[in-house]
Amino acid sequence: MVEASEKLEESVRENEAPVNSFIGGKYHVLRIDDLWYPAEVLQTRTLELGEEEFYVHYEGFDRRLDEWVSADRVDFDSKASRISRKESISTYDDLIDKTDRKITRNQKRKHDEINHIQKSYAEMDPTTAELEKEHEAITKVKYIDRIQIGKYEIDTWYFSPYPEEYGKVAKLWICEYCLKYMQLEKTFRYHQGQCKHRQPVGNEIYRKEALSIYEIDSSEHKLYCQNLCLLAKLFLDHKTLYFDVEPFMFYVLTEVDRQGAHIVGYFSKEKESPEGNNLACIMMLPPYQRKGYGKLLIAFSYELSKREGVLGSPEKPLSDLGKLSYRSYWSYVLLKLLGGSRGMVSIKELAQETSISNSDIITTLQSMNMVKYWKGQHVICVTSKTVDELIRDGQFKEPKHPIDPEYLRWTPKRKTTMSHKK
Ligand code: ACO
Ligand code: ZN
Repeated sequence: MVEASEKLEESVRENEAPVNSFIGGKYHVLRIDDLWYPAEVLQTRTLELGEEEFYVHYEGFDRRLDEWVSADRVDFDSKASRISRKESISTYDDLIDKTDRKITRNQKRKHDEINHIQKSYAEMDPTTAELEKEHEAITKVKYIDRIQIGKYEIDTWYFSPYPEEYGKVAKLWICEYCLKYMQLEKTFRYHQGQCKHRQPVGNEIYRKEALSIYEIDSSEHKLYCQNLCLLAKLFLDHKTLYFDVEPFMFYVLTEVDRQGAHIVGYFSKEKESPEGNNLACIMMLPPYQRKGYGKLLIAFSYELSKREGVLGSPEKPLSDLGKLSYRSYWSYVLLKLLGGSRGMVSIKELAQETSISNSDIITTLQSMNMVKYWKGQHVICVTSKTVDELIRDGQFKEPKHPIDPEYLRWTPKRKTTMSHKK
C-alpha cells in the first residue's frame, strides 16, 4: 500500500526488553484532570532520547482512557496494597455518601454509564469474564496513539489490527476520502495531491443541506469497507469485524463543503439479519461527537427499517456511549408519540409507528416507569400529564438533526410486511 522503502521513522519504538519489573504493577498515576488514580502498568517503552514511558489502565474506567504516560506521572512509592477503589477520586460510593440519599438502580446505571464505570470480572458470568480476559490480553496496548484524518488530528481510544508495520506507528495518516492509511506525512501529502476521490465511494442516498449519507455495498467496495472498519475499531472496543466485510452494507455520514464530502461517522448493517438487527456497529469520529450526529444515524437506521416494513434493533452488546445514545433516542421518540396520542396506545402500535422492536420499547418505557405487567402482558400505564411533564422537563432532548424522510432516495431490495417478532 505504501512504498517498501518507507521505514518506521517515528521516534517512538516499543521497548524490546522482555522482562520488565513494572509490568503488572499497580501505582497511583496522575491523570489529565490533575488527580491521582490507581492504575496498572500494562507495558513500557523507551523513546529515542531514552525517556521511559508507561502504558497504564486506570482501575474501574473504560479502556479508552488507557494511555502512555511519562515516569513523572507515576508515583512509584505508592504500594499496590494501599490502593483501593475507596481511595480513588469520586467513586460511586462517594457520591452516595456526599449526597446522603438513596440512588435508584436506574440512576446508578445512568451514573455508571456516563462515568464509564466498568463491570469487574466478579460481576460478570464466568464465560463472559473468560472472553473478556482473552479480549483484553489480545488488545491490551494500543500503539497507534493518534491519527490525522482530513483537518483533524485525533487521539485514538483502542487497539485496531492495522497490518504489521502500520499498527506500530505512533501516528497514522489517513485519507479522509478513500481511507487509505499511511505511515508518513510526506506520503500522505503526496496522496492528497493524487487521490481522485472527494466523497465516499457508493451512492448518495440522502442529502439535506450540508449533510449527506452514502450507501456502500461491501461486495463492490471491499477495500474501502475494510479501511473503514480498521478506522472505526480505533474507537470501538468490542466489535471484531475488519476483513470479512461482505455480509454488510455501510452507511457513511458526511458534511459537505466546497472541498468535498468529509466523513463524520458511519454505521454498518447486515444484509440479512436473522436476529432482526438493523444496525451492527455505529461510530462517530471524536471531533464530531456530541453534536447529535449519533442520534441522526440511529434515526436513519430506523427510517430504513420503516421502508423495509420491519422492526429493528441494534446488535448487542452496546457500548456505554451506544447505550446512552440509544436510550436517549428511544425515550424521546416514544414520549413524543405518547404525548401526541389521545387515548390508549399499545406497544404493538408504537412498534409499528417507529420500527423500534417490542423489547426495546418495553425496556425504555420500564426505565421511565411507564409499564405494568398485567395478565401476562406488558401494558402502558401513563397519564398524558406525566408525558407532557417529562417532555417539558427537557431531560429527553429533541434531536438536533432530525432525519427528513422526504430526502431519502432509497427503496429496499426486498419489501416485507411489518413483522412483530421480538
Ligand atoms: N458522555 C455523556 N453522554 C454522552 C456522551 C458522553 N461522552 N456521548 C454522547 N452522550 C449522550 C448525549 O448527551 C446524547 O444524549 P442527549 O441528546 O439526551 O443529551 C446521546 O448520548 C447521543 O448523542 P449524539 O451527539 O447524538 O451522539 P454522538 O454523535 O456522540 O455518537 C456514538 C454516539 C456513535 C455512540 C459515539 O459516542 C461513538 O462513536 N462512540 C464510540 C463508538 C461506540 O461506542 N459506538 C457504539 C457501539 S454499540 C454498537 O455499535 C451497536
Ligand atoms: Zn485518498
